Parts: sequence; structure tokens; C-alpha cells
Amino acid sequence: MKFFIATDHAGVAIKPNIIAMLEQRGHTVIDLGPSNADRVDYPDFAHKLCTQVLADASTQGILICGTGIGMSLSANKHTGIRAALVHDAYTASMARAHNDANVLCFGERVVGLGVCESILDAWCNTPFEGGRHAQRVAKIEV
Ligand code: RB5
Repeated sequence: MKFFIATDHAGVAIKPNIIAMLEQRGHTVIDLGPSNADRVDYPDFAHKLCTQVLADASTQGILICGTGIGMSLSANKHTGIRAALVHDAYTASMARAHNDANVLCFGERVVGLGVCESILDAWCNTPFEGGRHAQRVAKIEV
């Protein structure tokens, strides 16, 4: 899978670890910034990433801020983006299996590295189930 990743200043510290975990599993990761911990506005990076994911439906996104809330709120303003704020492996796998989420959001101030690794494994190893869930996902956009 090809992933885009972006954060704000409250998600930048964990980003290298997330990139390394994904690359170790054979995924490609494009870092859309920021490259340092200077204060930035999370919507700017959410919108930048969503534009890239929407341009190539074979890709997915990862957005990290302090809580994951601002990133998920911003990303879900884009038609075609289904951004899921997850906290553990269960919510990550359900976001893929039932919601066909294409952007993973979490909070650097909420989850530790071990939980992150289990989130990434659950996300990457869980396909969308389709069927009745496809009907529901199709109803998300108004
Ligand atoms: C930054 O302090 C923080 O507000 C931001 O990273 C995020 O958690 C917002 O939802």
C-alpha cells in the first residue's frame, strides 16, 4: 500500500516511528510534513493529505495531531474521504472492515508506540467486508 502521512506539531515526534513501522512491513510512505515541531494548523496538513488521497484512490492517508480529533474533523470535510479516529486495534480493524475508511487518524498524546503498532497492523491487515456495509458507506455522503 502507498500511504501519505501528515501531522501537526503535536504529532510530529511520533511520525518517524510510524513511517519506520510501515516501511518495515513493505509499505511506501510519502511524508507531507511538517518536518519540525514549529506550531502549525492541523487543517492545513489534513487538507493537503486529503487532496493527495483523492487524486489516487489506491492510496490511503495517516493523520496525526495531539488527539486526532482536529485532523479527523478536517479530513471528513472532503467528499470521498472517510477518516476514522481510532484508539486501538479494534477500532482500527472496524474502521476498515465496516466503514472502508481511507484515512487513519490518531492522537500522539493519546496512544503509545505499542498501541500504534497494533493499530497499524489491524488497519493494514483488515479488508473492507463490503455487502451490507457497502450500502451504508454509500449513504454517508449527502
Ligand atoms: C495542538 O495543541 C492540538 O490542539 C492539536 O494537535 C489537536 O489535538 C487538535 O485536535
